[in-house]
Parts: sequence; structure tokens; C-alpha cells
Amino acid sequence: MNILLTGGTGYIGSHVAAALISTGHEVVCFDNLANSDAVVIDRLEAITGTAIPLVVGDIRDGDALRHALTEHGVEAVIHFAGLKAVGESVAQPIKYYDNNVRGTLSLVEAMADCGVKTLVFSSSATVYGEPRYLPLDESHPTSATNPYGRTKLMIEEMLTDIAAADPDWRIATLRYFNPVGAHDSGLIGENPNGIPNNLMPFISRVAAGRLAELSVFGNDYDTPDGTGVRDYIHIVDLADGHVAALDTIVKIEPALSTWNLGTGQGYSVLDMVEAFERVNSVRVPYRVAPRRDGDVASCYASPERAARELGWTAQRDLEAMCASSWSFERTLAMRNSD
Ligand SMILES: NC(=O)c1ccc[n+]([C@@H]2O[C@H](COP(=O)([O-])OP(=O)(O)OC[C@H]3O[C@@H](n4cnc5c(N)ncnc54)[C@H](O)[C@@H]3O)[C@@H](O)[C@H]2O)c1
Repeated sequence: MNILLTGGTGYIGSHVAAALISTGHEVVCFDNLANSDAVVIDRLEAITGTAIPLVVGDIRDGDALRHALTEHGVEAVIHFAGLKAVGESVAQPIKYYDNNVRGTLSLVEAMADCGVKTLVFSSSATVYGEPRYLPLDESHPTSATNPYGRTKLMIEEMLTDIAAADPDWRIATLRYFNPVGAHDSGLIGENPNGIPNNLMPFISRVAAGRLAELSVFGNDYDTPDGTGVRDYIHIVDLADGHVAALDTIVKIEPALSTWNLGTGQGYSVLDMVEAFERVNSVRVPYRVAPRRDGDVASCYASPERAARELGWTAQRDLEAMCASSWSFERTLAMRNSD
């Protein structure tokens, strides 16, 4: 298929682009470069040996989307474009509703206009709110504790209504747990601007000496070592889950399906620090900081529905996650010293 990836030069989008191309699909990236760099396209072309068109545009620009969809003969869209920093969403909710909700509305309008009705959407485990039971399955009640999470919930509800009104749509809502790690090539990975919000790039930068120490937000949670427990999933496994979801929705009946993409295994912050130090023979100094608002003690997936319906399960272990993150960090350091 010809697939348009909104947010295609971002962390997850770039890995999904590589996975799609390796399974015979063609991709077009559509990104406003608000949180990524066009150089990612060069790296993807080096990885895949394939030319990849990049449309620099904003998903709130319907004309630009319609033009890209028709010019490239697009048959399906994977929608990654969005803002994702929880703290920023609390401080600037209008920016988040505008970019994420209005942007998605603009995208589905353009898709409907162009007769493209196959869509995979990047949702998040954040839509489960405070877990009432673990592991989290797709039937767990949804709620939001911050504007970022609310944008994901609103978009899920919008897509549910669209699928109910027109059964020609084929929509997958993928609820990601905690993607970490990098592509085996070391050429693409997670490289956020400023102080990372996510644990793994924070750990990598401390290990590399780019940041002095890791802040561990809270060590008095009701978990085995007191630090937060999350379901970390290797980015390459997450990317393969997208290929499986896309291949599945075009063959099945329901207009909308929802799958968790996680491993089902929880690791604490201190588990991650210990594993990173052991696997990469580095030191990651840390200090305990106060809990962050909205963080939950434990959050991990039931990956059973995805295994059953997509034939997909995560393959890569914690060691592979830590090794690939470090390998990407070292490639970055080499590039910066050029
Ligand atoms: N990384 C995670 O931990 C995680 C977890 C759950 C869900 N998600 C969701 O997955 C998606 C991708 O996340 P990511 O980690 O790759 O983030 P990212 O910031 O690396 O990628 C998002 C991309 O979207 C682009 N973008 C943002 N707004 C845009 C707009 N209006 N028009 C065009 N492009 C725009 C950015 O420039 C960036 O390249 C997001 O929707 C995010 O909410 C991410």
C-alpha cells in the first residue's frame, strides 16, 4: 500500500516507516518538523535504500493534506502527528486541543474528501487513567488526568463516531505503552529537545554525561522498590505492531478496532537504571525527586488481544532496549563531535 505517515519524521513514525518499507509498503512522510528534523529522511533512506517523499506541512492545513493524499495516491494513513508533553499540555491546553484535536479533525475531513478511509491512530495507555486493575486490557474504563490524555480520549471518541456513521472506514486505535530503544542501525531513535520527559532518553543522556543525574520522581509508590512501574516496549516491536494492525484492519469487518501495544511486563525506574548500567557498562547517577502530578504507581498492558487478533507479540527484551538506546546515544555523540 501507499501510506501517508503524519508525524513521519518523529520518533515512532520514523521507525514505522522503516518497518513498512521492509515489508513492501511505500510511505510518504507529512510533518511540520515542530519536533523533528528533515535529516531523519536521509537516515531512513540510508536504512531502507528507498527514496522517501517528505511533505513539510501541518495537519491543520486541509488543502496541504488533500494535495498530499491525491498527489501520492495514498491508500491509508498512520497518524502520529501530535504534541505529547503532559506538563506542557497542563500549562498550554489550547495549544494541545488545537494541534491534536483540531489537527485530527482536519485530517479525517481531508481523508473523507479524498476517499481514503483506512487509518491507524497513535493513542496511548494514558487513556486508562488511574488503573482500577492490572494488567490493563482494552475493556478497562477510560478517563483522562490531563489535557494531553483528554486529547487522545476525544480523538478516540471522534473516531468511534465516524466509524459508526460510515462502515467503509477501517480504523485501528493503538494504545501504546512506553516505547523505548532505537533502530538496530543506530541511525534513528528518540532525541527530544531540552530535558527529556521520558525515562530512557534521560538515562542515556546521564550515562553520556550530557546531564548530571537522573531525577527519579517518587520512591514511595506501592511497588516492589517504591519507584513507578511501566510497560517498556522496544520501538522496533512497536513499529511491527503497526504493520500487523494495518494488514489486519483491511481484512476484518469492524470499522474500528482498538489494541494495546505493550509487552505485559512491568519494570520499575530502578530496574531500568540497573539494566542500563549492566548492559552498557556505564554509570547512571540518580537522585530521588518528588512525585510528579498525575503519575500512577504501576501501569502495564494485557497484550493478549493484539496477540490473538493481530498475531503480534513483542519479541525484544529489556537488554535489547537498553543496548539500542545506548548505541543511538553514542551515534548522536559521534555526529555532534564531527
Ligand atoms: N513516545 C511515547 O512515549 C508515546 C506514547 C504514547 C503515545 N504516543 C503518541 O504517538 C505519536 C508519536 O509520538 P512520538 O513519540 O513519535 O513523538 P514525536 O514528537 O517524536 O513525533 C511527532 C511528530 O509529529 C509532528 N507534528 C506535531 N504536530 C504536527 C502538526 N500539527 N502537523 C504536522 N506534524 C506535526 C512533529 O514534528 C513530530 O515529528 C504522538 O501522537 C504521541 O502522542 C507517544
